[in-house]
Order: sequence, then C-alpha cells, then structure tokens
Amino acid sequence: MKKVLVTGGAGFIGSHTVVELHEAGYTPVIVDNFCNSHPDVLDGIATILGHSPIHHNIDCTDEQAMRGVFAKEGPFVGVIHFAAFKAVGASVNDPLSYYRNNVHATEILLRIMSELDCTNLVFSSSCTVYGQPKQLPVTEQTAFQHANSPYGYTKQVCERIIQDVVAAPSSATSAVLLRYFNPIGAHPSGAIGELPIGVPENLIPYITQTAAGKRKEIVIFGDDYETSDGTCVRDYIHVVDLAKAHVAALHWLTGKSNVCDSFNLGTGEGNTVKEVIDTFVEATGTQVPHRIGDRRPGDVEKIWASATKAQEELGWKTTLSLKTALIDAWNWQQKLEEQ
Ligand code: NAD
Ligand code: WQD
Repeated sequence: MKKVLVTGGAGFIGSHTVVELHEAGYTPVIVDNFCNSHPDVLDGIATILGHSPIHHNIDCTDEQAMRGVFAKEGPFVGVIHFAAFKAVGASVNDPLSYYRNNVHATEILLRIMSELDCTNLVFSSSCTVYGQPKQLPVTEQTAFQHANSPYGYTKQVCERIIQDVVAAPSSATSAVLLRYFNPIGAHPSGAIGELPIGVPENLIPYITQTAAGKRKEIVIFGDDYETSDGTCVRDYIHVVDLAKAHVAALHWLTGKSNVCDSFNLGTGEGNTVKEVIDTFVEATGTQVPHRIGDRRPGDVEKIWASATKAQEELGWKTTLSLKTALIDAWNWQQKLEEQ
C-alpha cells in the first residue's frame, strides 16, 4: 500500500487531491483539525471514493500527535503539506498565528520526516511569493518581491526552510515546491468544493454567492489598471487540474534523492475580473449584479504563470477551461444551497 500523508486534506485543494491520489493508486491519510473546513467534507470524499478516507483530527503544530500519526500509519511514500492559514487580511491582524501555523508546523513536519527517513515532501506554496513581478509571464526564476503580508512571507520562509533542509549535508529529504496561481472550481460530481467561512475574500465564491442571491452584488476592485479592460488579471486554474499536479509531483520525486525544485501551477493565461464575470454569466445563464468600486489595497495588477517547466518536467498541464471551472463552481454552490 502506497500511503501518502496529506495535511490539510479536508481543505479545498487537499480534498480534491485526496481524490486524485486515490484514483492514482495511493492511499491518502488525512491530518486535518477542521480549523478552516468541516467534517462533512469527509462524507463528500467518501461519496466519490466509495469509502471513508483515513483521517486524524490533529493539529499539525502538535509534534507529539504528529509523531503518533507517523507511528500508526507510516511508512509514507510521501507527504503533501497543505495545512496552513491562507487569509491575507487575517495574517496582517494576527501575524503570530500565521507564523505558528504555517512556519512552525512545517518545521515540525520536516524534523519528523528527517528522523524517520520519510524523504518526499510536496509543499503548497503560492504565486504570492512573486508579488507584482516586473516581467510576465512569471517563471520559476522570477525574483521574489518583498512580501506584502505575513501570509505571503510564511510561504517565502517555508520555501527557504525546505531548501535549507534539503541542502544540509546529511539530508536525504527531497521536496517539490508548488506555487499555485488562483485555484477555482470544484469536483464535477458536486460532492466537494470550496467552503469559504463567512464573507468570501476570493473572487469566485463571491461570484457564486452573489449569483445565488446570498450577496446583493459583487464589487469589482478597481477598473483603472493597465490591463485590457482596466480590471486586474489572474491565472485561474481548475482545482481538479491542480490536484492532479500533486500526483505528478509525487511521481517526479520517486527515485530521486536529495533534490528540491519549484514549479508554477497555472494555465499560462490571464483573465480580467470582468472576463471572469462575463464568462460565468454566459456559461451558467445566471446574472451576477456587480459594480465598480475602489482598488483593494495590496492587489497585484496582473500576474499569470509560465506553465512550461511543469509541463516539461512534471509531464503535467491543465486540461480544464475557465468556463468548466465556473460551471463546476456554480454546480457546487447550488449543492450548498440545497443543504
Ligand atoms: P483550506 O483552508 O481550504 O485548507 C487548509 C486545510 O488545512 C483546512 O481543512 C484546515 O482545517 C487545515 N489546517 C490548517 N491548519 C491546520 C493545522 N495546524 N492542523 C491541521 N489542519 C490544519 O485552504 P486551501 O485553499 O485548500 O489551501 C491549501 C494550501 O494551499 C495552503 O497552504 C494555502 O496557503 C495554499 N494556497 C492556496 C491558494 C488558494 O487560493 N486557495 C493559493 C495558493 C496557495
Ligand atoms: C482575484 C481578483 C481582486 C473579490 C489571493 C491571495 C493570494 C493567493 C491567491 C494564496 C483580484 C478581484 C476579488 C471581489 C474583486 N492565495 N476581486 N472583487 O487577490 O489573486 O490572491 O488568492 O496563496 O495570496 O491574496 O485572489 O480571489 O482575492 O482576487 O474584484 O469581491 O478578483 O481584486 O483582482 P488574489 P482573489
């Protein structure tokens, strides 16, 4: 049995990755304390898998409890570390929680893995490490900019910690640093998807909640940027495509020793906020009341990935369109409304 430890496996990206791991013949073992997800997610995963996934309700910053999971469930052929806090604004208000949950948990995981000769780590990083890049598309060589938030800094720091651990003379650890662009959508079954708690910060849940009538309107944060229609540009990637990249990363690590490399995970194309709203309306036939508002402080004007390295080295590329992602997100929102 090829077991993979998936921290944060009940979360948005983690739950979809658990499904893809299962389909690729791995046995995922989830560690999640539901601090930003709901136990029902496990039922959604079970609906797709046909059985309940293995799960431990444990905080990744609890070193003893994490050691217990390795002792009970190990050995693991790899670890995928999703568990982290991810709200940019909250990280500004409460930086210490972010350093503890994102950085300290990663340090604990690396120490346990080193001690137990568990050598393959896949780490959830973010395009946020690039800030507003000077050149587009962003390649993995593009220099990091000063992090705008404690959240962004935790990703830069964790990448550096992982690189240092791999580079240590006695180390056997290998790692893949995956820099996600903007993950959106949901599983086509509608059994799992994104579960924003409270008012969504991200564009797509805000669009689907507005379309569903839960929000009055969506405010487009500025239309005076240097882009085709004045609204910001992002690289939106279907979460199922993103999940499959984690399987590709595990395959890439297999048979390699003591390597560390980073990969951008995006489509290679950018879309404006207006294009996303228009595509949603066209694809679903549902209106999204919206108006133009002020710029959101700290927003990057435009960013999209060069997806070439992931395609050439991981043998992975996106296959699902923005339209498909928006239809799947809408399908998920409607399932949520039924509950
Ligand atoms: P999410 O909040 O939906 O999932 C994270 C999961 O980890 C949640 O289920 C949460 O309960 C769990 N968790 C958090 N801290 C934990 C802890 N200490 N112990 C146990 N469980 C814990 O987030 P997501 O969107 O799935 O993101 C997953 C990863 O990808 C994160 O590291 C995030 O920073 C990164 N990322 C996300 C995005 C995005 O836009 N969603 C973009 C780039 C990078
Ligand atoms: C997308 C676009 C907004 C909401 C965030 C994190 C980043 C990374 C990816 C984790 C922007 C616009 C949004 C709204 C709007 N996550 N928008 N009205 O800003 O690219 O990045 O997710 O690592 O760290 O900051 O994503 O979904 O918030 O915004 O006009 O109500 O939609 O201005 O242009 P973003 P987002």
